[in-house]
Amino acid sequence: MPLFPYRWAVIANGRALTDELANAPDDKFSFTFPTGKLVQTDYTVGPEILTDRFHVPIVRTNLSRNIGAIIEELRDEMLQAFRVSPLNDQTKKDKEVNVPALATVQQLIARITNRIFVGQPICQDEEFCRLNTVYVFDVVKAATKINMFPDFMHPRILQMNGPDALPVCISRSLPVILDSNGYERSEEGLAMRLLNINLGAINTSSVTFTHALLYLATHPEYAAILRAEVENVLDHEGQSKEGMQKMVHVDSFLRESAKLNAISLTSINRYTLDNYTFADGTFIPKGTVVASSMYSTHLDEKIYPNAHTFDPWRFVNSSGKSDTGKAYTVTSAEFLSFGAGKHVCPGRFFAANELKAMLAHIVITYDVKFEAKANGVRPPNEYVGTSVIPNTTAHVLFCRRV
Ligand code: HEM
Repeated sequence: MPLFPYRWAVIANGRALTDELANAPDDKFSFTFPTGKLVQTDYTVGPEILTDRFHVPIVRTNLSRNIGAIIEELRDEMLQAFRVSPLNDQTKKDKEVNVPALATVQQLIARITNRIFVGQPICQDEEFCRLNTVYVFDVVKAATKINMFPDFMHPRILQMNGPDALPVCISRSLPVILDSNGYERSEEGLAMRLLNINLGAINTSSVTFTHALLYLATHPEYAAILRAEVENVLDHEGQSKEGMQKMVHVDSFLRESAKLNAISLTSINRYTLDNYTFADGTFIPKGTVVASSMYSTHLDEKIYPNAHTFDPWRFVNSSGKSDTGKAYTVTSAEFLSFGAGKHVCPGRFFAANELKAMLAHIVITYDVKFEAKANGVRPPNEYVGTSVIPNTTAHVLFCRRV
């Protein structure tokens, strides 16, 4: 099928092909080529992000294995971020506050995420957070422009290697010691890496959480079930990694929202470095983009009965207990929001905990609904290429309960 910016891509459908694609070795299927093409790394974020991927093991090990240790800090920053956000104006208790959904979520997530990436006080620097949030849009705009032209013209289109955000990131300095060499150890190298990690973390998390927030506004009736669960867990477990694991309804709500609205229509985008024949005999010539269809998989009635309906407790056991096989972070050929296999998102444990903490906080602190003019109808998504973006003009009303 035609797929911007790759022109044509082969879609690997079904469990067997998706599993094979997800677990194929890098010398057969390149993970970095499609990203390089999509983002036009040479002209936007810099080639180093693909040639020296030292940040991936840092996220996979240092960050993911220490979720238990950072959860308190994450929650502390979240509470502070909500407290100063427009939706928590103290004078407006019991009054509705109308906020743009995506922009508000982006602001919160940029700050909370960077409490862990760079710590205080930098994570509370509004300009730093704003630049790290808009960076992704600058990159996508520039890359889209470049991708409209043939390859030989690319060097002439744009040289964006010094985005506005860079001097700010450098001047705020970086209290993170990364396992890096040469250019990567320089102030500019570290600042670029931080911007690029934020590029992968803030937008994905914000888009994902906004989709869930819009479902909450569409179905305020689900808030009571979530609230009862959160209050019960907080009473018995306090704020801990174990407590987060027990929030199975919160977890299921997020997984179902991501099932219906993942960040993209495709997942596991790869590029063949050699001719390749799948186990079922399908031949793919060298130089082909191959991806799995997240959209048709997540809406497949054979996998998910009533697949098009938002069923927030779909992944909760009939006993209402935790089913680790259906947790939000568990990926498979049937749940592709975080990819699957060899390059599955290493930041998903961090993201899931952050988003769960935010949803838990929202349901116990606010009632959430749409403006009257929306008639309780979830505004339609926006699509840019294969990206699935929650309606960028959607507003949500927050009313403080406590
Ligand atoms: C809800 C939020 C997120 C979503 C939906 C998401 C989704 C994804 C997806 C679809 C991939 C590609 C997987 C593949 O092609 O098989 C990916 C890769 C990646 N993600 Fe995430 N992500 C999220 C949050 C994060 C966060 C918070 C971080 C950092 C802390 C992060 C770091 C990464 C990295 C480093 C990779 C590249 C992995 C590799 O090169 O092997 N992600 N993510």
